[in-house]
Amino acid sequence: MKRDAEELLKELCPDLQISRSNKEWLERSAQAIAKTTQSRDIYPVVDHTQGEGPWIYDLKGNQYLDMTAGVAVRALGFRNTVIQDFEQRIQGYLREVPGQDFDVIPQTLLAERLIGLTPGDHEKEVFFTTSGGRAVESAVKSVMDTSHRFRFVAFRPAFHGRTGYSLALTASKHVHKDYYPQGLDVIRGPYPYCFRCPFGQHEDTCNLECLQYLRDSLQYGGTDIAAIAIEPICGEGGIIPAPIKFLKALRVLADELESKIISDEVQAGLGRTGRWWGIEHADVVPDYICTAKALGGGFPFGAAIGPKPMFTDFSRHSETFGGEPYIALISLSVLRTIESDRLVENAETRGKQLRKGLLEIQETSKFIGDVRGRGLMCAVEIVTDRKTNNIDPKRREAILSNCVKKQQLWIIGSGRNSIRFLPPLNITAEQIDIAIERFGKAVKGVK
Ligand SMILES: Cc1ncc(COP(=O)(O)O)c(C=O)c1O
Repeated sequence: MKRDAEELLKELCPDLQISRSNKEWLERSAQAIAKTTQSRDIYPVVDHTQGEGPWIYDLKGNQYLDMTAGVAVRALGFRNTVIQDFEQRIQGYLREVPGQDFDVIPQTLLAERLIGLTPGDHEKEVFFTTSGGRAVESAVKSVMDTSHRFRFVAFRPAFHGRTGYSLALTASKHVHKDYYPQGLDVIRGPYPYCFRCPFGQHEDTCNLECLQYLRDSLQYGGTDIAAIAIEPICGEGGIIPAPIKFLKALRVLADELESKIISDEVQAGLGRTGRWWGIEHADVVPDYICTAKALGGGFPFGAAIGPKPMFTDFSRHSETFGGEPYIALISLSVLRTIESDRLVENAETRGKQLRKGLLEIQETSKFIGDVRGRGLMCAVEIVTDRKTNNIDPKRREAILSNCVKKQQLWIIGSGRNSIRFLPPLNITAEQIDIAIERFGKAVKGVK
């Protein structure tokens, strides 16, 4: 940690004895901070005062190559100079305007920009939020408000957030849901998880049995579906790309039911998959797109883009900090940088390079059952052996630990037994090579 940063902390907390002990800070945080998702066994405390691009540091100054981009938040890497310079230029601007109570120009410009970036020529409008889950909530509320239908379709696995209606759509891990009453009637379909097809099919034998299963479930559970919520690439569930033909067939089903499609692009959107939106790979026009994470350039920000009008009246839905002008300006700057630096194209190219390298590692390891992904949203699935492909969560944890502690590759898991790669969109070819090399060593290091 930098010296002046230590002084600053002392100014704020005069009794503070500065320590760089990882152990001590982990113990203090475990004492003071409610349990969330952090794994204190694997990850050291991050030095909040330094980092650049895909490089992250711990309190002792050890450098790590970051393959998480803050779980897809830091699309431009740490301290991107364009965004930093831009932030300097707007230092004096107002930050305290609740955009949903009073109009400000930045949110209008950003809404116009998002409308232009999302597929479909239909009339759209935007609801701004402060998180991904809230973006999904607002799409759900919008559909209910405008259709007066209350039943939804979602998949298993699926992750759409942890609060209220978004949690009701989520089915990723039982701990997310146990003992929390659900606020929505959800009919669940099997996510098209081809590597573990529950119908025993392969790419060449697949007749979209999973979709047929969903159709049957609707006959039992109700066809009055307000909307079908889908992640075009299932993120938290294991980075599972939905096959193109599945997404196309889903649109047909939604039209038959006169239902909407909510494409949850909180993780997959904004260029990560090599297209602006994950669903564009299938040329499908969804009714709603939900986005967050990368949108705020590090600030909490999200949006649902939906068919106009999203709500039937004023005050049907609102959020105090939604549309905050300072963040809206930064968000515009993020979108401009993604465009001017051709980062959507970079995600496509670097993603191919990454998967090629991971496939080469798979050839030498019997523990990597599958390598998959689109653009820079990739994963490997860790199995006991390639014959049974049984999941091996313990080995996954051991590899993750090896990556972080021995190879200085900052990386996280996904689903029950996968490891995901979500590097910043501006990652270079050399950095991808380093990541592949380090990951290969980490896999080999677990006997
Ligand atoms: C696809 C998807 N939807 C929604 C969310 C929830 O976002 P947030 O944690 O910002 O509420 C996430 C978070 O990981 C996500 O991946």
